[in-house]
Amino acid sequence: MRELTYYVAVSLDGRIAAPDGTWDAFLTEGDHLAALAAEYTDTVPAHVQRLIGVQSTQDRFDTVVMGWNTYLPGLEEGHPSPYSHLRQVVFSRTRTEAHPDIELTSEDPVEVVRRLKREEGKGIYLCGGGQLAGALIEEIDRLVLKVNPIVLGDGIPLFAGDYTPRRFALESTRRFELGVLLNEYLPKDRASAGGGRTERQYPERVDPCPHLVESGPGLVAPGPCELTPV
Ligand SMILES: NC(=O)c1ccc[n+]([C@@H]2O[C@H](COP(=O)([O-])OP(=O)(O)OC[C@H]3O[C@@H](n4cnc5c(N)ncnc54)[C@H](OP(=O)(O)O)[C@@H]3O)[C@@H](O)[C@H]2O)c1
Repeated sequence: MRELTYYVAVSLDGRIAAPDGTWDAFLTEGDHLAALAAEYTDTVPAHVQRLIGVQSTQDRFDTVVMGWNTYLPGLEEGHPSPYSHLRQVVFSRTRTEAHPDIELTSEDPVEVVRRLKREEGKGIYLCGGGQLAGALIEEIDRLVLKVNPIVLGDGIPLFAGDYTPRRFALESTRRFELGVLLNEYLPKDRASAGGGRTERQYPERVDPCPHLVESGPGLVAPGPCELTPV
């Protein structure tokens, strides 16, 4: 069955964005940017892929699900189909119209995701945000946190709303040079015996691209010296 993976950048105090929804505080340099862009290319927005010269192969994900508040910033910046290389499902109870590439739904996210999981295909990328992740917590099969060594103090939580607490077990952790950790968790009841816990540096040397900075939804965005997006 297809897995639902919540892959997201988070601060030490569990925030995925500042109170106003911005994520400028996340690290804008470091070897994690290029490494994760290479490994999680499917999660890089399509217009950013073009700018940095990578291409999704859908080897990890072929579908993305996101809440309206996560979809909105890209829309306002002129990217109504941010993950055009994936099937895009956006949840909203209030909106009725969206770009033809977007499957806009007010259905219960749990029902939608269970239906997606029964279909053939690759993994399902839960892009965020906190409200949608809270609604889907029971459906998460893998939690991949890009933990940035910053404290935001306030902001959008990793999980929001009324949800039932759930235990996860650390499956692996990678440490990058500026202190970003990539922590991968499985639901506790599905974790391998002994935790399967490993600790390692990212094994390959990947030269950081000077044009990459961390962005919230998705992984990277063009840096200040980058070309103007088309
Ligand atoms: N750090 C990262 O990697 C990362 C990743 C993703 C997002 N983010 C940030 O997270 C923030 C957004 O997170 P958020 O928690 O505020 O919002 P969100 O989960 O992205 O979206 C919430 C909206 O989605 C719709 N929704 C949520 N639950 C629903 C349900 N059960 N059924 C139908 N529709 C539902 C509602 O839209 P309507 O109000 O239209 O009904 C709700 O207002 C943004 O600032 C974004 O930049 C950061």
